[in-house]
Amino acid sequence: MEDTERILEEAQKEAEGAESSRALYEVKMKFLGRAGKVTALLKGMKDVAAELRPAFGKRVNALRERLEEIFEGLEARAKEREMRERLASESVDVTMPGRRSAQGALHPVTLVKNQLIDIFAGMGFEIFEGPEIENEYYNFTALNTPADHPARDMQDTFYISDGFLLRTQTSAGQIRLMEKKRPPIKMLSPGRVFRSDDDATHSPMFHQMEGLVVDKGVTLCDLQGMLDEFARTMFAETSKTRLRPSYFPFTEPSVEVDVSCAACGGKGCPLCKGTGWIEVLGAGVVNRRVLENCGVDPDEYSGFAFGMGIERIAMLKYGIGNIKLLTENDVRFLEQFKG
Ligand code: PHE
Repeated sequence: MEDTERILEEAQKEAEGAESSRALYEVKMKFLGRAGKVTALLKGMKDVAAELRPAFGKRVNALRERLEEIFEGLEARAKEREMRERLASESVDVTMPGRRSAQGALHPVTLVKNQLIDIFAGMGFEIFEGPEIENEYYNFTALNTPADHPARDMQDTFYISDGFLLRTQTSAGQIRLMEKKRPPIKMLSPGRVFRSDDDATHSPMFHQMEGLVVDKGVTLCDLQGMLDEFARTMFAETSKTRLRPSYFPFTEPSVEVDVSCAACGGKGCPLCKGTGWIEVLGAGVVNRRVLENCGVDPDEYSGFAFGMGIERIAMLKYGIGNIKLLTENDVRFLEQFKG
Protein backbone atom coordinates (compact mmCIF):
# COMPACT_ATOMS: atom_id res chain seq x y z
CA MET A 1 0.00 0.00 0.00
CA GLU A 2 2.80 2.34 0.85
CA ASP A 3 4.51 1.38 -2.39
CA THR A 4 1.71 3.02 -4.35
CA GLU A 5 2.33 6.36 -2.63
CA ARG A 6 6.01 6.09 -3.22
CA ILE A 7 5.58 5.09 -6.84
CA LEU A 8 3.18 7.97 -7.48
CA GLU A 9 5.63 10.45 -6.07
CA GLU A 10 8.58 8.93 -7.90
CA ALA A 11 6.74 8.81 -11.21
CA GLN A 12 5.46 12.33 -10.86
CA LYS A 13 8.93 13.66 -10.14
CA GLU A 14 10.53 11.83 -13.04
CA ALA A 15 7.79 12.75 -15.43
CA GLU A 16 8.03 16.41 -14.58
CA GLY A 17 11.78 16.24 -15.06
CA ALA A 18 11.50 14.72 -18.56
CA GLU A 19 12.67 17.27 -21.09
CA SER A 20 11.15 15.90 -24.24
CA SER A 21 8.18 13.84 -25.28
CA ARG A 22 10.64 11.08 -26.06
CA ALA A 23 12.06 11.14 -22.49
CA LEU A 24 8.56 11.34 -21.11
CA TYR A 25 7.59 8.23 -23.04
CA GLU A 26 10.50 6.39 -21.50
CA VAL A 27 9.40 7.39 -17.98
CA LYS A 28 5.88 6.28 -18.81
CA MET A 29 7.13 2.87 -19.92
CA LYS A 30 9.19 2.58 -16.73
CA PHE A 31 5.96 2.75 -14.71
CA LEU A 32 3.09 1.76 -16.94
CA GLY A 33 4.87 -0.36 -19.55
CA ARG A 34 4.72 -4.12 -19.66
CA ALA A 35 7.79 -4.40 -17.46
CA GLY A 36 6.82 -1.26 -15.52
CA LYS A 37 6.58 -0.80 -11.78
CA VAL A 38 2.80 -0.44 -11.68
CA THR A 39 2.40 -3.50 -13.80
CA ALA A 40 4.66 -5.33 -11.39
CA LEU A 41 2.38 -4.31 -8.52
CA LEU A 42 -0.61 -5.82 -10.32
CA LYS A 43 1.33 -8.97 -10.99
CA GLY A 44 2.16 -9.16 -7.27
CA MET A 45 -1.58 -9.29 -6.37
CA LYS A 46 -1.44 -13.02 -5.86
CA ASP A 47 0.95 -12.58 -2.94
CA VAL A 48 -1.37 -10.21 -1.16
CA ALA A 49 -3.55 -11.68 1.55
CA ALA A 50 -7.00 -12.47 0.18
CA GLU A 51 -8.86 -10.11 2.48
CA LEU A 52 -6.65 -7.18 1.52
CA ARG A 53 -6.72 -7.94 -2.15
CA PRO A 54 -9.82 -5.89 -3.18
CA ALA A 55 -8.54 -2.78 -1.39
CA PHE A 56 -5.09 -3.27 -2.83
CA GLY A 57 -6.49 -3.79 -6.34
CA LYS A 58 -8.50 -0.58 -6.04
CA ARG A 59 -5.47 1.37 -4.97
CA VAL A 60 -3.25 0.11 -7.71
CA ASN A 61 -5.94 0.86 -10.29
CA ALA A 62 -6.41 4.33 -8.87
CA LEU A 63 -2.64 4.80 -9.08
CA ARG A 64 -2.60 3.65 -12.71
CA GLU A 65 -5.44 6.00 -13.63
CA ARG A 66 -3.81 8.91 -11.83
CA LEU A 67 -0.50 8.26 -13.59
CA GLU A 68 -2.18 7.98 -16.96
CA GLU A 69 -3.80 11.33 -16.36
CA ILE A 70 -0.49 12.88 -15.34
CA PHE A 71 1.33 11.53 -18.39
CA GLU A 72 -1.44 12.62 -20.74
CA GLY A 73 -1.26 16.18 -19.45
CA LEU A 74 2.51 16.33 -19.61
CA GLU A 75 2.60 14.72 -23.04
CA ALA A 76 0.22 17.30 -24.43
CA ARG A 77 2.35 20.09 -23.00
CA ALA A 78 5.62 18.59 -24.33
CA LYS A 79 4.16 18.11 -27.80
CA GLU A 80 2.88 21.63 -27.91
CA ARG A 81 6.20 23.02 -26.78
CA GLU A 82 8.08 20.94 -29.35
CA MET A 83 5.75 22.09 -32.12
CA ARG A 84 6.29 25.71 -31.12
CA GLU A 85 10.06 25.22 -31.16
CA ARG A 86 9.93 23.56 -34.58
CA LEU A 87 7.78 26.29 -36.05
CA ALA A 88 10.15 28.91 -34.68
CA SER A 89 13.26 27.21 -36.05
CA GLU A 90 11.75 26.46 -39.46
CA SER A 91 9.96 29.74 -39.90
CA VAL A 92 10.42 31.72 -43.11
CA ASP A 93 10.29 35.47 -43.18
CA VAL A 94 8.13 36.04 -46.22
CA THR A 95 8.73 39.79 -46.08
CA MET A 96 12.48 39.35 -46.60
CA PRO A 97 13.62 40.59 -50.04
CA GLY A 98 14.40 37.65 -52.35
CA ARG A 99 17.62 36.92 -54.19
CA ARG A 100 17.15 38.01 -57.78
CA SER A 101 18.62 35.76 -60.46
CA ALA A 102 20.39 37.65 -63.23
CA GLN A 103 18.15 38.14 -66.21
CA GLY A 104 19.56 38.08 -69.71
CA ALA A 105 18.74 40.27 -72.67
CA LEU A 106 19.00 39.85 -76.41
CA HIS A 107 22.29 41.03 -77.89
CA PRO A 108 21.97 44.22 -79.99
CA VAL A 109 23.11 42.28 -83.08
CA THR A 110 20.31 39.78 -82.46
CA LEU A 111 17.83 42.61 -81.86
CA VAL A 112 18.68 44.24 -85.18
CA LYS A 113 18.76 40.91 -87.02
CA ASN A 114 15.29 40.04 -85.67
CA GLN A 115 13.97 43.45 -86.62
CA LEU A 116 15.36 43.14 -90.14
CA ILE A 117 13.74 39.73 -90.49
CA ASP A 118 10.48 41.25 -89.26
CA ILE A 119 10.60 44.10 -91.78
CA PHE A 120 11.46 41.97 -94.81
CA ALA A 121 9.32 38.98 -93.84
CA GLY A 122 6.45 41.47 -93.88
CA MET A 123 7.28 42.10 -97.55
CA GLY A 124 7.24 38.39 -98.34
CA PHE A 125 10.94 37.51 -98.05
CA GLU A 126 11.96 34.01 -96.99
CA ILE A 127 15.01 33.19 -94.89
CA PHE A 128 17.86 31.20 -96.41
CA GLU A 129 21.10 30.43 -94.57
CA GLY A 130 24.23 29.41 -96.47
CA PRO A 131 27.39 27.80 -95.02
CA GLU A 132 30.10 29.84 -93.27
CA ILE A 133 32.85 27.81 -94.93
CA GLU A 134 32.54 28.39 -98.64
CA ASN A 135 34.51 27.55 -101.72
CA GLU A 136 35.89 30.13 -104.12
CA TYR A 137 33.25 29.36 -106.67
CA TYR A 138 30.30 30.52 -104.54
CA ASN A 139 32.10 33.35 -102.78
CA PHE A 140 33.77 34.82 -105.89
CA THR A 141 33.67 33.04 -109.24
CA ALA A 142 29.92 32.61 -109.64
CA LEU A 143 29.51 36.18 -108.40
CA ASN A 144 31.38 37.36 -111.48
CA THR A 145 34.64 37.92 -109.63
CA PRO A 146 37.30 36.26 -111.81
CA ALA A 147 40.46 34.67 -110.37
CA ASP A 148 42.63 37.73 -111.01
CA HIS A 149 40.04 40.30 -109.98
CA PRO A 150 41.30 42.83 -107.41
CA ALA A 151 38.14 42.29 -105.32
CA ARG A 152 39.64 38.99 -104.17
CA ASP A 153 42.48 40.88 -102.45
CA MET A 154 40.24 43.85 -101.67
CA GLN A 155 38.24 41.59 -99.39
CA ASP A 156 41.31 40.21 -97.64
CA THR A 157 40.00 36.72 -97.40
CA PHE A 158 40.76 34.05 -94.76
CA TYR A 159 41.63 30.98 -96.80
CA ILE A 160 41.26 27.61 -95.08
CA SER A 161 42.82 25.41 -97.72
CA ASP A 162 43.15 25.41 -101.46
CA GLY A 163 39.82 26.62 -102.82
CA PHE A 164 38.13 26.84 -99.41
CA LEU A 165 37.66 29.98 -97.34
CA LEU A 166 35.57 31.62 -94.64
CA ARG A 167 32.91 33.44 -96.63
CA THR A 168 33.60 37.15 -96.97
CA GLN A 169 30.01 37.99 -97.88
CA THR A 170 26.55 36.46 -97.57
CA SER A 171 26.23 37.11 -101.33
CA ALA A 172 27.53 33.52 -101.75
CA GLY A 173 24.06 32.47 -100.62
CA GLN A 174 22.50 34.15 -103.69
CA ILE A 175 24.15 31.55 -105.90
CA ARG A 176 23.29 28.61 -103.65
CA LEU A 177 19.65 29.62 -103.57
CA MET A 178 19.30 30.35 -107.29
CA GLU A 179 20.81 26.94 -108.09
CA LYS A 180 18.02 25.36 -106.05
CA LYS A 181 15.01 27.59 -106.63
CA ARG A 182 13.56 29.11 -109.79
CA PRO A 183 12.18 32.68 -109.75
CA PRO A 184 10.15 34.33 -108.37
CA ILE A 185 12.67 34.65 -105.53
CA LYS A 186 12.55 36.86 -102.45
CA MET A 187 15.35 35.77 -100.20
CA LEU A 188 16.72 37.18 -96.96
CA SER A 189 19.97 35.65 -95.78
CA PRO A 190 21.50 36.51 -92.40
CA GLY A 191 24.89 35.18 -91.33
CA ARG A 192 28.45 35.60 -90.12
CA VAL A 193 31.11 36.75 -92.54
CA PHE A 194 34.89 37.02 -92.14
CA ARG A 195 37.48 39.47 -93.39
CA SER A 196 41.01 40.28 -92.35
CA ASP A 197 40.04 43.70 -91.06
CA ASP A 198 40.34 45.13 -87.56
CA ASP A 199 39.74 48.63 -86.19
CA ALA A 200 37.08 50.63 -84.29
CA THR A 201 34.46 50.08 -87.01
CA HIS A 202 35.72 46.77 -88.51
CA SER A 203 35.94 43.35 -86.94
CA PRO A 204 37.38 40.17 -88.53
CA MET A 205 34.01 38.53 -87.93
CA PHE A 206 30.75 40.37 -88.39
CA HIS A 207 27.20 39.74 -89.53
CA GLN A 208 25.54 40.59 -92.79
CA MET A 209 21.98 40.53 -94.02
CA GLU A 210 21.67 39.74 -97.68
CA GLY A 211 18.58 40.34 -99.76
CA LEU A 212 17.82 39.00 -103.22
CA VAL A 213 14.76 39.52 -105.39
CA VAL A 214 14.48 37.91 -108.83
CA ASP A 215 11.35 38.02 -110.96
CA LYS A 216 10.04 39.38 -114.25
CA GLY A 217 10.42 43.16 -114.55
CA VAL A 218 12.21 43.84 -111.26
CA THR A 219 14.04 47.21 -111.28
CA LEU A 220 16.16 49.44 -109.09
CA CYS A 221 12.97 51.38 -108.22
CA ASP A 222 11.62 48.31 -106.43
CA LEU A 223 14.84 48.16 -104.47
CA GLN A 224 14.62 51.77 -103.38
CA GLY A 225 10.96 51.40 -102.40
CA MET A 226 11.79 48.46 -100.12
CA LEU A 227 14.85 50.20 -98.66
CA ASP A 228 12.78 53.30 -97.86
CA GLU A 229 10.39 51.11 -95.94
CA PHE A 230 13.34 49.48 -94.15
CA ALA A 231 14.87 52.87 -93.22
CA ARG A 232 11.57 54.24 -91.86
CA THR A 233 10.99 51.17 -89.68
CA MET A 234 14.58 50.72 -88.53
CA PHE A 235 15.54 54.35 -87.91
CA ALA A 236 12.88 57.07 -87.99
CA GLU A 237 9.50 57.69 -89.62
CA THR A 238 11.08 60.57 -91.56
CA SER A 239 14.15 58.62 -92.76
CA LYS A 240 14.96 58.76 -96.48
CA THR A 241 17.41 56.84 -98.65
CA ARG A 242 19.79 58.00 -101.33
CA LEU A 243 21.53 55.85 -103.95
CA ARG A 244 25.07 56.65 -105.07
CA PRO A 245 26.84 54.90 -107.94
CA SER A 246 29.32 52.26 -106.83
CA TYR A 247 30.89 49.06 -108.03
CA PHE A 248 30.40 45.39 -107.22
CA PRO A 249 31.28 42.68 -109.75
CA PHE A 250 27.94 40.92 -109.17
CA THR A 251 25.62 43.89 -109.68
CA GLU A 252 25.24 46.27 -112.63
CA PRO A 253 24.50 49.03 -111.99
CA SER A 254 25.81 48.98 -108.41
CA VAL A 255 24.88 51.45 -105.72
CA GLU A 256 25.90 52.47 -102.26
CA VAL A 257 22.84 53.30 -100.16
CA ASP A 258 22.80 56.14 -97.65
CA VAL A 259 20.10 56.77 -95.04
CA SER A 260 19.38 60.31 -93.87
CA CYS A 261 21.03 60.80 -90.47
CA ALA A 262 18.46 60.05 -87.75
CA ALA A 263 20.57 61.85 -85.11
CA CYS A 264 20.32 65.30 -86.77
CA GLY A 265 17.45 64.74 -89.19
CA GLY A 266 19.79 65.37 -92.14
CA LYS A 267 21.08 68.77 -91.05
CA GLY A 268 24.60 67.54 -90.43
CA CYS A 269 26.21 66.46 -87.15
CA PRO A 270 29.34 64.64 -85.89
CA LEU A 271 27.71 61.22 -86.43
CA CYS A 272 27.18 61.86 -90.17
CA LYS A 273 30.35 63.95 -90.36
CA GLY A 274 28.32 66.98 -91.32
CA THR A 275 26.91 65.40 -94.49
CA GLY A 276 23.41 64.57 -93.24
CA TRP A 277 23.75 61.05 -94.71
CA ILE A 278 25.07 57.74 -93.43
CA GLU A 279 26.13 54.88 -95.66
CA VAL A 280 24.35 51.69 -94.65
CA LEU A 281 24.60 49.14 -97.42
CA GLY A 282 25.68 48.02 -100.87
CA ALA A 283 23.20 46.97 -103.51
CA GLY A 284 22.46 46.83 -107.20
CA VAL A 285 20.73 45.15 -110.09
CA VAL A 286 21.87 41.53 -110.31
CA ASN A 287 24.50 41.24 -113.05
CA ARG A 288 23.29 39.23 -116.10
CA ARG A 289 26.39 37.05 -115.76
CA VAL A 290 25.37 35.99 -112.24
CA LEU A 291 21.89 35.00 -113.42
CA GLU A 292 23.45 33.05 -116.30
CA ASN A 293 25.84 31.27 -113.91
CA CYS A 294 22.78 30.01 -112.04
CA GLY A 295 20.86 28.98 -115.15
CA VAL A 296 18.38 31.86 -114.94
CA ASP A 297 17.60 33.56 -118.29
CA PRO A 298 18.58 37.24 -117.93
CA ASP A 299 16.33 38.22 -120.85
CA GLU A 300 13.32 36.87 -119.03
CA TYR A 301 14.20 37.71 -115.43
CA SER A 302 15.88 40.53 -113.61
CA GLY A 303 16.58 41.16 -109.97
CA PHE A 304 18.24 43.24 -107.34
CA ALA A 305 20.38 42.37 -104.35
CA PHE A 306 21.52 44.18 -101.28
CA GLY A 307 23.88 43.42 -98.42
CA MET A 308 24.23 45.25 -95.15
CA GLY A 309 26.41 44.91 -92.06
CA ILE A 310 24.23 44.16 -89.04
CA GLU A 311 26.81 45.53 -86.56
CA ARG A 312 26.92 48.76 -88.54
CA ILE A 313 23.14 49.15 -88.38
CA ALA A 314 23.19 48.37 -84.63
CA MET A 315 25.96 50.94 -84.05
CA LEU A 316 24.00 53.62 -85.91
CA LYS A 317 20.70 52.77 -84.32
CA TYR A 318 21.99 52.62 -80.73
CA GLY A 319 24.85 55.13 -81.02
CA ILE A 320 27.60 52.56 -80.32
CA GLY A 321 31.03 54.07 -80.99
CA ASN A 322 33.24 50.98 -81.11
CA ILE A 323 32.43 47.66 -82.80
CA LYS A 324 34.48 45.79 -80.14
CA LEU A 325 31.76 46.49 -77.57
CA LEU A 326 29.64 44.03 -79.52
CA THR A 327 32.00 41.11 -78.93
CA GLU A 328 33.41 41.90 -75.47
CA ASN A 329 30.22 40.75 -73.74
CA ASP A 330 30.58 43.26 -70.90
CA VAL A 331 27.37 42.82 -68.92
CA ARG A 332 27.20 46.55 -68.14
CA PHE A 333 27.00 47.21 -71.88
CA LEU A 334 24.63 44.36 -72.72
CA GLU A 335 22.24 45.18 -69.84
CA GLN A 336 21.29 48.39 -71.57
CA PHE A 337 19.42 46.43 -74.24
CA LYS A 338 16.90 44.83 -71.87
CA GLY A 339 13.48 45.17 -73.45
N1 PHE B 1 28.41 41.69 -100.74
C1 PHE B 1 28.62 43.10 -100.72
C2 PHE B 1 29.60 43.42 -99.59
O1 PHE B 1 29.93 42.58 -98.84
C3 PHE B 1 27.33 43.87 -100.49
C4 PHE B 1 26.37 43.69 -101.63
C5 PHE B 1 25.43 42.71 -101.58
C6 PHE B 1 26.44 44.51 -102.72
C7 PHE B 1 24.52 42.54 -102.61
C8 PHE B 1 25.55 44.37 -103.76
C9 PHE B 1 24.61 43.39 -103.68
O2 PHE B 1 30.05 44.53 -99.46
